[in-house]
Amino acid sequence: MNRAVYVTGTDTGAGKSLAAATLLAVLNASGLRAAGMKPVASGCEHTATGLRNADAELLIAHSAGAPAYANVNPYAFADPIAPHLAAADAGIEICLARIDAAFAALSTNVQFVVVEGVGGWMAPLGPRLMQADLVRALHLPVILVVGLRLGCLNHALLSARAIRADGAELAGWIASGVDTQMARREDNLATLRERLGAPCLGVLPYAAAPDPAVLAPQLAAARRLLRA
Ligand SMILES: Nc1ncnc2c1ncn2[C@@H]1O[C@H](COP(=O)(O)OP(=O)(O)OP(=O)(O)O)[C@@H](O)[C@H]1O
Ligand SMILES: [Mg+2]
Repeated sequence: MNRAVYVTGTDTGAGKSLAAATLLAVLNASGLRAAGMKPVASGCEHTATGLRNADAELLIAHSAGAPAYANVNPYAFADPIAPHLAAADAGIEICLARIDAAFAALSTNVQFVVVEGVGGWMAPLGPRLMQADLVRALHLPVILVVGLRLGCLNHALLSARAIRADGAELAGWIASGVDTQMARREDNLATLRERLGAPCLGVLPYAAAPDPAVLAPQLAAARRLLRA
């Protein structure tokens, strides 16, 4: 049976891509064939083969089965702006059916799909489409990536409340050390552990050049949860 998870974050730049790529490294090292997906990406380079997004490329680099770009990232927009605005500028509306089809195509080659969201949980996908709609349609448990910086407690607790209020399952959370100067880091982590009401799947320490393969042991708890 195919399985998948949705990776959201406390905000843009929280560490979703790094956490998603590290989850892929964990799963693929454990013998499960896993691929990444970034269904909607704004902020892409024009290339000879079309628009290419760095997050999608990172996920592909850590995926099994060399997935086709179009299945990993069915919606790619050039400007690094909110995706519903980028889609409107391009004269298109993001629709679930296309994401669902790409997800199904991707799933034929792997046993697990790690889907990276856009921005934070409440970043809209369209005039009538939220990320929660995608998560419910694809029946994805959610992993929240908390970017460890001042303000993260508020962002994390609001995100957890919104995820649950939207009828999704918060399966766990991952912290990422995006701020080297963060004060009271351990106390913040303890507060998150006490209050998020979901398991911590690992903490990615700050790394000057973070490498998902090197960080994979930090997410050993995720392997147990995702393979269960
Ligand atoms: N543990 C860490 N150590 C060092 N740098 C980190 C860490 N976690 C994240 N970063 C850096 O912070 C930046 C944002 O991380 P990342 O791209 O994973 O966030 P994101 O939530 O995926 O952002 P987006 O909303 O653009 O998709 C990147 O430059 C990344 O390398
Ligand atoms: Mg990202």
